Amino acid sequence: MTADEKKKQAALAALEYIEPGSVIGVGTGSTVNHFIDAIAERMKGAVEAAVSSSEASTERMQQHGIPVVDLNAAGALDLYVDGADESNRHLHLIKGGGGALTREKIVAAASKTFVCIADDSKLVNILGEFPLPVEVIPMARSLVARELTKLGGQPVWRENFITDNGNIILDVHNLEIMEPMKMETQINQMAGVVTVGLFAHRPADVLLLGGEDGVKTVTA
Ligand code: A5P
Repeated sequence: MTADEKKKQAALAALEYIEPGSVIGVGTGSTVNHFIDAIAERMKGAVEAAVSSSEASTERMQQHGIPVVDLNAAGALDLYVDGADESNRHLHLIKGGGGALTREKIVAAASKTFVCIADDSKLVNILGEFPLPVEVIPMARSLVARELTKLGGQPVWRENFITDNGNIILDVHNLEIMEPMKMETQINQMAGVVTVGLFAHRPADVLLLGGEDGVKTVTA
């Protein structure tokens, strides 16, 4: 089974968390793309509208005729479905491989239940093998890079990439994240950082992992 087939399995399993008639939060990435396509195919009438975490997901949903609404209009959400680049067993996540981490963190914060969908390669013992994305105000790029180096990582500028919010991304390599909550706080406090792609203070509530033997449900 390919990683993409595993992602699709996880995405289909997330459909069961949708309350008919609700407004849901929708993340970004290849796994979420399967989720969006599955809503369009199987549950279109059941989703009243979606709050999107990126221009890419907005475009995909609009192409399918799924109404997209602004978070300010939607208010609190019951459900947020999104992928991840890594998860540990506490459901602390690294996100932002696609660069949508800031809006993802906002929608996750506005949602009661965060269901994370992924293939089983994303579950790790210690976060950090996947380079940690940090969204940074452009003028602070070098300053923040120096600060990140002090934490033991090697920040690499994601060149030719601008986020939906007009900022840049530093991908921090070679971190061994033993204390995700502490590191999330430390990086968020750096002047010039918009968001770090660590989701530890607001982890996922449920992780649906697609694998060879079907979908495994992991809770913290
Ligand atoms: C987007 O910015 C990310 O947070 C994605 O959720 C993450 O990169 C997962 O992507 P895939 O579903 O494509 O693996």
